[in-house]
Amino acid sequence: MNRVDEVLGLAGAEVADVIATAALAPSVHNTQPWRFRLASDRIELHPDLDRHLPATDPENRELRLSCGAALFNTRLALRAHGVKPLVTLLPGSDAPGALATVRRGGSRELDEETRQLIRAVPVRRSNRKPFRDVPVPAGHRQALVRAAERERSWLHVVTDHEDRARLQRLVAKAHGVQAQDPRVRAELGAWTGTRVDDGVPAASAGIRPAPQDEWALRDFHAAERLPGKDYESDPLVVVLCSFYDGPLAELQTGQALQRVLLTATTLGLSVSFMSQAIEVRSVREELRRSLGGGVVPQTVLRIGFGSPVPPTPRRAVTDFLL
Ligand SMILES: Cc1cc2nc3c(=O)[nH]c(=O)nc-3n(C[C@H](O)[C@H](O)[C@H](O)COP(=O)(O)O)c2cc1C
Repeated sequence: MNRVDEVLGLAGAEVADVIATAALAPSVHNTQPWRFRLASDRIELHPDLDRHLPATDPENRELRLSCGAALFNTRLALRAHGVKPLVTLLPGSDAPGALATVRRGGSRELDEETRQLIRAVPVRRSNRKPFRDVPVPAGHRQALVRAAERERSWLHVVTDHEDRARLQRLVAKAHGVQAQDPRVRAELGAWTGTRVDDGVPAASAGIRPAPQDEWALRDFHAAERLPGKDYESDPLVVVLCSFYDGPLAELQTGQALQRVLLTATTLGLSVSFMSQAIEVRSVREELRRSLGGGVVPQTVLRIGFGSPVPPTPRRAVTDFLL
């Protein structure tokens, strides 16, 4: 890290830690589609468009959600180093092409909640394995809803039976559409299994999908399922939504996504995604209508008490620098 001597008043090793922490964010297919430009007075977050998924994510919506999650981690990492981050989303001509800039807004002591979120960053991971058949307590649910609200987003908790059955149908329908699309399948194949420092390794794939599964999880070529190893019967399922459409909302909701995931981690909860219903445009519109039309669904999460899973790989810090 010798490109800039000092960034926001932090020394090289501290800046490297900020970028490494940012990169621990989740990203669609673990593409890690973010780059950072460092200057003495700001960190710029840029999309890495070489890593977009044209078939799965044609509008780069999930790419921006992923970058929003990395931005949330950047904010936390700066707080850990005593810097109060001042974020500008879509800064325009101030930083051409950037999704966000982060400047120093002074110094600030860490509060206990932020401290816990920071500790959760390296232990959070997507968990595609079956969860225990233990309901998520109401207090935990409320904490997750509050986490989304804190980042100006909305967490729709799927509680009633009809709502749940409808969402299950929508996820299955979108899953079926994607299974028939050779371009989507090719992208999944390209980011599964054999890559070194990105993509989804076999150890993180969960268990192989089976016809009896209530929720259609994405198949990252999981190992054969052992007899008796089925999914939990009643996970908490939520739809994370923004209040409007477009890149700004996606960056906002990406930050909310990460606050929700980290809050879940602090509560001992595991989470996996079911984004198919959002990725297939016609299904997303159906889902949006079913939510009343006032909010925009951005991602679907399955939440419960899971067993440990290994971390997914990340690229080196220098690979992320522009
Ligand atoms: C916007 C977004 C959408 C995602 N959609 C899915 C999905 O539909 N199915 C899935 O299994 N994982 C999904 N993931 C999880 C990523 O595959 C995961 O974050 C990545 O492999 C890195 O692993 P980690 O979360 O354990 O760090 C999604 C992640 C993001 C940020």
